Amino acid sequence: MNLSTALFDHTLSAPIIIEAMTGGVKRAFDINAALAEAAEVLGLAMGVGSQRAAIEDPRMAYTFTIVRKRAPHAFLIANIGAPQLAEYTVDDIRTALDMIEADALAVHFNPLQEAVQPEGDPQYEGLVDKVKEVAASLSIPLIAKETGAGIAYEDARRLEETGVKGIDIGGAGGTSWAAVEACRAKALGNRHRARLGETFWDWGLPTAVSVVEVSQSVAVKVLASGGLRSGLDAAKALILGADAAGFAFNLLKPAVEGRVQTALERLMMELKTAMFLVGARSIKELQAAPAVIVGKTYQWLTARGFHPEKYARRRTP
Ligand SMILES: Cc1cc2nc3c(=O)[nH]c(=O)nc-3n(C[C@H](O)[C@H](O)[C@H](O)COP(=O)(O)O)c2cc1C
Repeated sequence: MNLSTALFDHTLSAPIIIEAMTGGVKRAFDINAALAEAAEVLGLAMGVGSQRAAIEDPRMAYTFTIVRKRAPHAFLIANIGAPQLAEYTVDDIRTALDMIEADALAVHFNPLQEAVQPEGDPQYEGLVDKVKEVAASLSIPLIAKETGAGIAYEDARRLEETGVKGIDIGGAGGTSWAAVEACRAKALGNRHRARLGETFWDWGLPTAVSVVEVSQSVAVKVLASGGLRSGLDAAKALILGADAAGFAFNLLKPAVEGRVQTALERLMMELKTAMFLVGARSIKELQAAPAVIVGKTYQWLTARGFHPEKYARRRTP
């Protein structure tokens, strides 16, 4: 059985991505080093957290540069917030890419977090044009990435037109930034923002729904993330249409505790077991396995104009 798969022009030993989490603060150095070592040993892809802090204060760059040092061969994804694209020059973006000798750039969209955050700045006007401009200027793939609210197929189509080569779903059902900001606002004594975060706690397209919508609507690579907790979840995401599966929350504690390689090996073992049980010898065969979509996900997809029963029979290896 072979778990290896192509992601852009790179071969991963399994379709697993360590999602963007950290950098820019002292504590991130050890976490990023641990994540990068595991990515290198296991042949997986890794995204770094937002590089804003290090672009604005180069003294923080070491918390990111360690990633390429510890993972000289891994597929590494740089990370910038979409609202920052409006402020940054081409040189700023180049600085972020050079910091980790990036193989791809993820531009993250977090309008929900910006809207709830007490100091948030929900400036999204004109960003589609800016994404287009940046995509055209890069020699590596640009990935548009959500951070917990998922991506609708209408937006995926607009993003594809801008020239992005990948979409990271970042769907609802996992880490919720509305929840994080609600807790922060509460701690700061900002009752209105806390209430706002509570109201939008679960806002967004569930990851499964978003993966189907997007992978059925555009030809770019689809990375499934948001609430994936096991290799079985990764297998389901791949069957639903994803090209790779991303994990953040359930790798953070293992990274802090020095057992992230073991956590990733468990994910790979679970993925392999799911493949064995459906008789798939390769990731391509797994992706062609019939999907049975029931319950709320089925209702949601049909309400959005997708027909899961047709979809289940459509894919061929
Ligand atoms: C602690 C933490 C920090 C994160 N920081 C970033 C970030 O800086 N940039 C970004 O694009 N996404 C960030 N994310 C979002 C993840 O990359 C990913 O899209 C999402 O959390 C995946 O869902 P999961 O945490 O349920 O696995 C972060 C997630 C976590 C848990």
